[in-house]
Amino acid sequence: MSALLASLLIFSLFTSATSLSSNYYAKTCPNVESLVRKAVRDAATSDKKVPAALLRMHFHDCFIRGCDASVLLDSKGKNKAEKDGPPNISLHAFYVIDNAKKAVESACPGIVSCADILALAARDSVVLSGGPSWDVPKGRKDGRTSLASETLQLPFPTFNISQLQKSFAQRGLSLDDLVALSGGHTLGFSHCSSFKSRIHNFNSVTDVDPSLNPSFAASLKKICPVKNAKNAGVPMDPSSTSFDNKYYKLIFQKKVLFSSDKALLDLPKTRNLAAKFAGSKYAFTNAFVNSMIKMSSITGGQEVRKNCRVVN
Ligand code: HEM
Ligand SMILES: *[C@@H]1O[C@H](CO)[C@@H](O)[C@H](O)[C@H]1NC(C)=O
Ligand SMILES: *[C@@H]1O[C@H](CO)[C@@H](O)[C@H](O)[C@H]1NC(C)=O
Repeated sequence: MSALLASLLIFSLFTSATSLSSNYYAKTCPNVESLVRKAVRDAATSDKKVPAALLRMHFHDCFIRGCDASVLLDSKGKNKAEKDGPPNISLHAFYVIDNAKKAVESACPGIVSCADILALAARDSVVLSGGPSWDVPKGRKDGRTSLASETLQLPFPTFNISQLQKSFAQRGLSLDDLVALSGGHTLGFSHCSSFKSRIHNFNSVTDVDPSLNPSFAASLKKICPVKNAKNAGVPMDPSSTSFDNKYYKLIFQKKVLFSSDKALLDLPKTRNLAAKFAGSKYAFTNAFVNSMIKMSSITGGQEVRKNCRVVN
């Protein structure tokens, strides 16, 4: 009986969380969507790396403490924030969110959360890259905690399929969501450090991961020798500024960068879905939209921050 009560209590703690809706700001900040879109578009015009950065930022935000803009907080005093944690290497373009927040604050002060701005910016980034659009549910609140140590809760690029499944399941996301959201890797750039273990000293038997296409592996080794330049790396896919289904074709050609990408072939369910997405951009983008809405509805915060970098 007490176990039942306890689990009911825990359940209600999590679900007392914010319920989101598409028209959340219809009365209080009717122009929020166009203000955010403009900030993202202006930035992306002068820096092609912006859309990928914002999509990844939203994913990182949602996977730690829910989508509560914890990823946007700066370190303060002794507290090292998420953005200064170990797997932060490709997190950048925080200034875009600052610009969007400034525009939104001057139109409707104190109303729109940073977490909502980031969710909108991620959607706008996909649209700007030629991907699908969707209605973003809004009404998230911003959190008051950001800990560098918690970035270790993010999935690693070395994860196998069961580790990935577990990481997603802990956030209420399914294997279908894993396959669809991994398609985010159609955009952006990876540093050598994220896949180096596959092309040098893979194990005691072989130097290069045998699940990599040999000529692809050879080209990666040229860009990423044992001692590479700090900023060296490669695009996630050859069409890395366009949101398409190429990523899934590359998985079957053994030309994806991370073990976590190629792991999608390791279960019949995920393999079949990857094959379906490789064959149909439409099937991919539909599934991506559904899974993005699911991921971006993991809520967590308490307040509407005035400045996305500091708690109120
Ligand atoms: C399934 C587990 C995932 C793992 C293990 C993973 C891992 C990584 C790694 C290691 C990088 C490269 C970082 C670097 O070296 O700079 C990266 C980049 C990226 N990831 Fe993921 N990721 C995952 C899921 C996702 C999801 C769900 C999304 C979004 C829907 C996403 C979007 C991106 C984007 C857009 C980039 C490029 C960032 C840029 O160019 O700035 N990833 N990911
Ligand atoms: C990433 O973290 C390191 C320390 O772990 C820090 O020096 C660096 O500034 C961080 N990068 C970003 C983009 O915040
Ligand atoms: C994945 O890795 C974990 C941890 O190393 C291991 O326990 C598990 O057996 C692996 N699963 C598969 C399917 O390889």
